[in-house]
Amino acid sequence: MKIIKAKDYDDASKKVANIISAQVIMKPDAVLGLATGSSPIGAYEYLIKWFKRGDVDFSEVTTINLDEYRGLPKTHDQSYWYFMHKNFFDHVNVPDKNINVPDGSNPDAEVACRKYDEIIENAGGLDLQLLGLGLDGHIGFNEPADTFVLGTHCVDLTESTIEANQRFFASKDEVPRQAYTMGIKHIMQAKKVVMIVTGANKAEIVKEAFFGPVTPQIPASILQIHPDFILIGDEEALSLV
Ligand code: F6R
Repeated sequence: MKIIKAKDYDDASKKVANIISAQVIMKPDAVLGLATGSSPIGAYEYLIKWFKRGDVDFSEVTTINLDEYRGLPKTHDQSYWYFMHKNFFDHVNVPDKNINVPDGSNPDAEVACRKYDEIIENAGGLDLQLLGLGLDGHIGFNEPADTFVLGTHCVDLTESTIEANQRFFASKDEVPRQAYTMGIKHIMQAKKVVMIVTGANKAEIVKEAFFGPVTPQIPASILQIHPDFILIGDEEALSLV
């Protein structure tokens, strides 16, 4: 595990974008595992800026997003498909056919999840996985549990996650209770994993996840044993470690 200390959110975002950009420059047909949430938005903004300047080209890249709410159509303004288009894909040149997000509109969880595993495997796995960190230690929507779940699966979101995400919805009742998420196996098989954590409210979970025991009760803790895991945090998020 490598920890990179950034001054603030902007600095952390630039560092993450630099790593993603370097990955794409070195391997133009890279498979990128992408995340939603507040944390990666700044990195996407840098990548868009550099793409527009001609410094990075996504025309051969494949993207595989971590997760999607179950039951939300793509067109819903809180779906992760919508988020990714608004914050990244609409501004760069990843071909539509290379963009993958779990199909939240498929009510058959088993079919939706097996199909997603096939997509990941047919792509040859992930070259780089970008992650944020949930307040309960989740990665993707792998929530605290008794075991690590390996493949893509349907999860019941925890109360902590529903509360954290209600800021994006009109009310807490509107937050979907379930999601499809990539499992721990594909995240851990990514050749490189980059996590961005910022803000004082993440300090405690950063300490528990990366300086405590590896346990499925804190899913991110498994990243301690990933051979190429980079944690990029601002001073606040890293203040307890
Ligand atoms: C989103 C995702 C989640 C978020 C996490 C942190 O695709 O996979 O695990 O990364 O909930 O969210 P933010 O960045 O909003 O604090």
